[in-house]
Amino acid sequence: MIDPFGRSVSYLRVSVTDRCDFRCTYCMAENMTFLPKKDLLTLEELNRLCSAFISKGVRKIRLTGGEPLVRKNIMFLVRELGRHIQSGALDELTVTTNGSQLARYAGELHDCGVRRINVSLDTLDPAKFKAITRWGDFDKVMQGIDAAQKAGLKIKLNAVALKDINAAEIPDMIRFAHGRGMDLTVIETMPMGEIEEDRTDQYLPLSRLRADLEERFTLVDIPYKTGGPARYVEVKETDGRLGFITPMTHNFCESCNRVRLTCTGTLYMCLGQNDAADLRTALRASESDDYLHAAIDEAILRKPKGHDFIIDRTHKKPAVARHMSVTGG
Ligand code: GTP
Ligand code: 5AD
Ligand code: SF4
Repeated sequence: MIDPFGRSVSYLRVSVTDRCDFRCTYCMAENMTFLPKKDLLTLEELNRLCSAFISKGVRKIRLTGGEPLVRKNIMFLVRELGRHIQSGALDELTVTTNGSQLARYAGELHDCGVRRINVSLDTLDPAKFKAITRWGDFDKVMQGIDAAQKAGLKIKLNAVALKDINAAEIPDMIRFAHGRGMDLTVIETMPMGEIEEDRTDQYLPLSRLRADLEERFTLVDIPYKTGGPARYVEVKETDGRLGFITPMTHNFCESCNRVRLTCTGTLYMCLGQNDAADLRTALRASESDDYLHAAIDEAILRKPKGHDFIIDRTHKKPAVARHMSVTGG
């Protein structure tokens, strides 16, 4: 699948539910209205959609949410998709999770062919963790990380950089992650969903964070690539990888290789744009995949050049009104 800008689309992010057991301030409002369950595609339908994308050239699938592991019977989908790893049709099957259900699912994820997962963790301070996630349980996430490592899953921690909340703690997070053999990526907060009073004030350009870190650590750029947007450095002192995801200050759209499918069968060609294609109608139109393939081809031709996120300090308006939890980042 080649888009109008010559980019090859080989990475599908699938949001399997819009629900989550946390309410992170930068991702959801405290009172969210979720989709009625009847509007969700079944896991069989999601599997059929993923298979269509694989046959069209997708080599990497990431399940996201909301929180992917709260969707009922999610392991059915993971197991089905894992068959494509076994057959060699898919290079990577992975998950981005808040970690709350990992203690229960880590072993099964590994059995299904998952080898590397991303866990959202913005702080090591339980009180701050509660303030950021509102409903999160820090101990449960730590137990989840332990279980995942025991099960043999490689972990990348994701920390959204928040100026007065966790910026000062990033050195400790580097030591924690690298001390346990995990990668860490820091992420610029994107203005999506509801922008509450303090959200724009918490935005931190990562060039500033990097400059601060360079006073304590030796950071060496490395060509490590995962197919995601992070640019990695090696931290000499801790002997681990640190990634920077900079949608605001250093747009990576020119090398974009991904599209996002939601649990209703809507395909977003770009995280930072509203245009979307309805794949559900094509999916349900026929048992043959011909309509679906045509709808996917048509959608890829609409992939935009990139996003234009800006931090609007005057109006405190989001660049994109859709919450991050609809597409899982
Ligand atoms: P890796 O396979 O480990 O590279 O994963 P990833 O970094 O692609 O995925 P993850 O789910 O961990 O996302 C980390 C952050 O990157 C989240 O904040 C995502 O919203 C952001 N992200 C991923 N892809 C894109 C993208 O295409 N555009 C933008 N703006 N942000 C993205
Ligand atoms: N800006 C940047 N990253 C975000 N995430 C959620 N909301 C935002 C936002 N507004 C991150 C989560 C998760 C990943 C999928 O996206 O922390 O790790
Ligand atoms: Fe690609 Fe859109 Fe993300 Fe930019 S914002 S990297 S074009 S999906």
